[in-house]
Amino acid sequence: MAKDTFYITTPLYYVNAKPHIGHAYTTLAADVISRHKKMNGRKVFFQTGTDEHGSNIQKTAAQQNVAPLKLADGICAEFKKAWDKLNVEYDYFLRTTDRKHEKRVQEIFEHLIKNGDIYPGKYEGLYCSSCENFFEKAELLEEILCPVHKKKVESVSEETYFFKLSKYEKLLLKHYEENPGFLSPRRRGREIVNFVKSGLRDLSVSRTKVSWGISVLSNPSHTIYVWFDALLNYITGPGFGVGEENGAFSGIWPADIHLVGKEIYRFHSVIWPAMLMALGLPLPRKVFGHGWWTVEGEKMSKSKGNFIDPVKACDDFGLDALRYFIFREVSFGQDGDFSFEMLKKRHNNDLANDLGNLFSRSLNLAFKYLDEMPGESANSYPALSEADRDINSLMDNFELTEALNRVWQTISLMNKKIDEEKPWKTAKSDPKKAAATLREMVESLRFISRWIYPFMPGTAEKMRAYLDADKFRENRKAKPPVLFPRKL
Ligand code: MSP
Repeated sequence: MAKDTFYITTPLYYVNAKPHIGHAYTTLAADVISRHKKMNGRKVFFQTGTDEHGSNIQKTAAQQNVAPLKLADGICAEFKKAWDKLNVEYDYFLRTTDRKHEKRVQEIFEHLIKNGDIYPGKYEGLYCSSCENFFEKAELLEEILCPVHKKKVESVSEETYFFKLSKYEKLLLKHYEENPGFLSPRRRGREIVNFVKSGLRDLSVSRTKVSWGISVLSNPSHTIYVWFDALLNYITGPGFGVGEENGAFSGIWPADIHLVGKEIYRFHSVIWPAMLMALGLPLPRKVFGHGWWTVEGEKMSKSKGNFIDPVKACDDFGLDALRYFIFREVSFGQDGDFSFEMLKKRHNNDLANDLGNLFSRSLNLAFKYLDEMPGESANSYPALSEADRDINSLMDNFELTEALNRVWQTISLMNKKIDEEKPWKTAKSDPKKAAATLREMVESLRFISRWIYPFMPGTAEKMRAYLDADKFRENRKAKPPVLFPRKL
């Protein structure tokens, strides 16, 4: 089967903590992109899930005195609940403890032992269990702290299987060079190229001292390194297995885009493609690394207890306001700061004023002065068609913030137009002109509802219901709803 599906992924989230705004950000970005593609007629496969093995989960479970799987069940349910609440339409939720995934990972591991890409040896080095990552001494802070979590690293010395990462150094550099869209945004790409050029060492991919993991089939005293297990989700989910038919899989793979946060960009742009090369599979088309959120100027942390719970933020501010805010406030790809004051400001200015007013003003006047609702695209409006082209191409390039900026540019233009053309006045002096203005307003609202749909599906649907030409008589009996009541 030839590939016909747009395949988009989020990372698999660790099950040692409840979902917060950072996790929601990656997942919502995937939802926005996937809704945009579906709206344009693409078949989409959107995969997310939870990363449930490894020393960190094992430790957290021990601290809480529960079995690791029990811990995973609870947090996994929290993630699913959050995604439902946030109106995330994923197609497949993979847990790394799913038997099917585990079995496929074991068989891939054996296959790579057989073809020589994985070989036994002994590892001595430094490890941070919060990142589940190995470090060189030179990378540490104060010679002992992990540069990401600022926690003490452990020294490990154990038998291990290595993956021949070094073998793929040149091939990776060649791939980056020949596929300029692969590493994205560009700035992250440059860091990766420099990192790979500085030399890759083989990677330890099994542990004898971690019991909570997938065991190596031919040597069960080893469990498979949690990142090796988790990265494989991107192919086991859509159905890849060594020696399996792989029919459905070839309709989906390669992924069109892996969305990840910047701190796990290296895993996805260096280790993962090398693993795929070892398996003889094509590489994903793009690995996109987005930025990080701070909260009111500070890093989110357990000690500060300043995690933003996305479910609660929805209850307080409304789902679509939240979905809108995180993509409008900070350019997608960059770091940004989450503040309730800014959220409220954007809610009141962009949503209640700009969009909400344009919608209720235009519709109230259309209901009052038009005899019928114009049919869809009965006329052509060059400014709207041009904006439509721009927005589609920005969305296709994953420039989500720029697309929203362009939508709001059009909203402002339309608000200005209605102010200037004053159809409530011309309705008496020049009814034809008033009707023309109002028809254009209706058409612009239809475009706007399509443009905002990926970001604010609920609001877009509410708008569409009132823009339906067949329901004009019925709709005009009532007042159009207030889309975003102002927050005080
Ligand atoms: N389990 C690994 C990923 C394995 S993928 C094969 C992992 N999990 S995680 O639970 O830590 O979640 C990572 C995702 O959440 C990343 O995309 C990361 O960027 C995102 N975020 C976590 N905190 C964040 C912020 N403060 N801001 C933005 N996103 C952040 O890593």
